Amino acid sequence: MKGKWSCSFLGALPIFLLVVGDMTAEARNIRRNVTIGTGGTDSANEQACQKPVARETAIANIFKPIDNIAPRFATQQTHPFRVEGYHRNNVPIHTNKFYVNLLLDKQDKPVYCHPYTVAWTGCTKENAKENNCHYGMGVTQTDIGDVKYGPGEPAQYYFNPIDKHAIALSAKELGEDSQMTLENPTAFSVTAVLSSPANKKPIIKTNLVQGMGFVTVEYYNSTPMIQSGIGIKSLTPGDTVAGPGFSKIIATLEDKTQWVIYIISSSSSTQPSRPMFTKQGNNTYVGKPNFHGIIQLAKIPLDWTNTQEYDKLAGSYAMGATLSASVNRNAGAYTISWQKGGIANRPLLMFALPHHVQSMSPESRKRLTTIRLRTTTKGMAQGLIGDSMSLTEDRLPHDVHYRPWSQIGQARGCSLNRTTKDFIAKVARTEIQTGITKRLATEPSIYWAGKIMGGYASLVRATADFLQDRQLLDEGLKQLKTSLGVWISGRQPYPMVYESTWGGIITGWANRANDIRVDYGNALYNDHNFHYGYFVYTAAVIASLDPSWLNAENKAWVNSLIRDYANPVDDKYFPFSRSFDWYHGHSWATGLDNFADGKSEESSSEDAFSLFAIKLWGEATRDHETEARASLQLAILKRSISNYFLMEKNNINHPASFVPNKVVGILFENKVDHATWFGRNPEYIHGIHMLPMTPISGYIRSKDFDIEEWQQKTNPNTFRPKDKVWTGILRAMQANHDPHGSYKFFASSDFDNTLLQQGESRAYYLMYSAILAGF
Ligand SMILES: *[C@@H]1O[C@H](CO)[C@@H](O)[C@H](O)[C@H]1NC(C)=O
Ligand SMILES: *[C@@H]1O[C@H](CO)[C@@H](O)[C@H](O)[C@H]1NC(C)=O
Ligand SMILES: *[C@@H]1O[C@H](CO)[C@@H](O)[C@H](O)[C@H]1NC(C)=O
Repeated sequence: MKGKWSCSFLGALPIFLLVVGDMTAEARNIRRNVTIGTGGTDSANEQACQKPVARETAIANIFKPIDNIAPRFATQQTHPFRVEGYHRNNVPIHTNKFYVNLLLDKQDKPVYCHPYTVAWTGCTKENAKENNCHYGMGVTQTDIGDVKYGPGEPAQYYFNPIDKHAIALSAKELGEDSQMTLENPTAFSVTAVLSSPANKKPIIKTNLVQGMGFVTVEYYNSTPMIQSGIGIKSLTPGDTVAGPGFSKIIATLEDKTQWVIYIISSSSSTQPSRPMFTKQGNNTYVGKPNFHGIIQLAKIPLDWTNTQEYDKLAGSYAMGATLSASVNRNAGAYTISWQKGGIANRPLLMFALPHHVQSMSPESRKRLTTIRLRTTTKGMAQGLIGDSMSLTEDRLPHDVHYRPWSQIGQARGCSLNRTTKDFIAKVARTEIQTGITKRLATEPSIYWAGKIMGGYASLVRATADFLQDRQLLDEGLKQLKTSLGVWISGRQPYPMVYESTWGGIITGWANRANDIRVDYGNALYNDHNFHYGYFVYTAAVIASLDPSWLNAENKAWVNSLIRDYANPVDDKYFPFSRSFDWYHGHSWATGLDNFADGKSEESSSEDAFSLFAIKLWGEATRDHETEARASLQLAILKRSISNYFLMEKNNINHPASFVPNKVVGILFENKVDHATWFGRNPEYIHGIHMLPMTPISGYIRSKDFDIEEWQQKTNPNTFRPKDKVWTGILRAMQANHDPHGSYKFFASSDFDNTLLQQGESRAYYLMYSAILAGF
């Protein structure tokens, strides 16, 4: 038994001394009994107590395909939402990326590039009245003083006004009938082309890249126009900028903000002569015809008195980006590299978000500038010079598996004392015997079926780890295999289908009900990470307890779901990383919903859980790249959640009057609403960022945040949920900082099961808090 029980010594020494003989004998039995199937010699109990075999090898490239076969689902050829402006050549198209508004409907909703917001503007009766009518690319960037707040203290929500474009870069040749087509939609960028329908020749083009340093519009022998919805007070030629064909204008707007505009002709002989632009009516300036070159736009930070910093950088622009990443045990590194257009010897200006700046490699950090502009909902962006940005994370959740994990440090015990174990075993027996197969037989919702299975899977795995009851474990495992088997073989009420217009797996319920919005808009690609994460987790639990379950069919099915929401590569069937945005460091839940406020995400905890599920699946299938990739994503997500979703009192990324809400609620690209999609009860808003409770909750949530949230918002002395079914999750999360209190609550003799939602297990919460408490 060398070293086998060593972890007991760390946290639970007294218990160990009391029950050592008993435990060891029992453990020996269990060790034999729990080894099911053909796979390994590891027992489940050993895995719980010991760390699973750690990945020791360094992985230089974590983006290796997990599978390349066609997903085995019935194919649905057409999706109710057509792809606008992009002719797909049989490749999947992104559904949850920042520019997807341009692929939908009238293509007129904004794109949030951070710090610049860009929209294809047109003329309607309304905006014509407000001088906001122009046919080109309208640009806004809002400062803290522009922000609008909802009622209350702290403010219920805040948003950035974007109805009036600060500057629109347009061309005289553009009009009512212009068309927008899109080129190269990738995970980080897209190119928008505006052309005339007559000859299809581009009039202007713009590359929309996350974090782009300038808004850059390429002109193709057209007549540039500069317009403004706010109003142009003056347009004055700037001082000279080095380089032939290079000139500069300073635009002062009616709101006193200033923008610098660089005009760079692609032919060095055609130095633009002055005046380059002449006023034509209110807020419209027209340039010389037949301009071939680029016009670049940047907001001048409020406290600046000159534009020297920009002058050195104008002329080049980002056209797209690529990502590379490596993981070495507990440390990960990733690099976003940009393809550059424009003048070759001009360095590139890009923007880094606050979580980038925190995790930047020393080499990249040296290239940070003093340029700081506010993003819409992620605080201040900081300018960075160069063609790439390297970021590192050195606290990957290498040691977070199924065993309770918390930052307070007690999570070291592996066994429960006799009293505790007997008590919990009784609760677990009832829950396991109640089972889930009957309940799931009629469940049409992928989300709810997943939640119920996933919660039960946590219970079954903890039963294997801490209760040493072979029969009970067998019963639970059988329930899991049967339930998941129904989905894998497509016998659920509405089988999933592979949809080949955009490229992905969606619910068949939408088609049958003729309602695209059923199941939270799964068929619109909303929430796929949330929905499918529960299935991947359930599969990982089964495989961890019975490796023989991993036959080709089961494995391929689970891999298909992972490829749908978290494909490590672009392949024929699924886009790369549908949900997780590697620039923002978290996922967007919004799919093909065309919101003016952009993409959004509510449940940061289910985002984390969906990646944790992939990490555990990678472990169960010994796919080291997958395990490493999900671990790195979790480390990045931990950072972005603590910057943007869960607000400690010193948070500086959200406005001061919003921070005391503690949790954002729904984080959009342009708005933050302290709310949920299903109501404004505080228990919903806090609870949706907690569930499901698993060991990754303890990793993601900082100890300080946990305590602040408990003391100020969720503790039962000052707060009683109106919808009491949300009580369970609030009390389960208490275990991360106060396991004794959490245990006492769930152990109470008159515990009321109606405090739990479907998919929550009292026995699991008891085991979780008991282990953290050292019982
Ligand atoms: C310009 O603005 C003035 C004052 O707001 C208005 O009276 C006039 O009609 C506008 N001209 C055009 C061409 O829109
Ligand atoms: C065993 O666990 C119970 C909680 O169920 C706790 O009250 C008791 O102190 C523990 N006993 C020992 C010896 O640690
Ligand atoms: C383990 O299995 C053996 C039979 O193979 C049985 O005798 C024993 O009671 C089992 N132990 C437990 C704890 O279930």
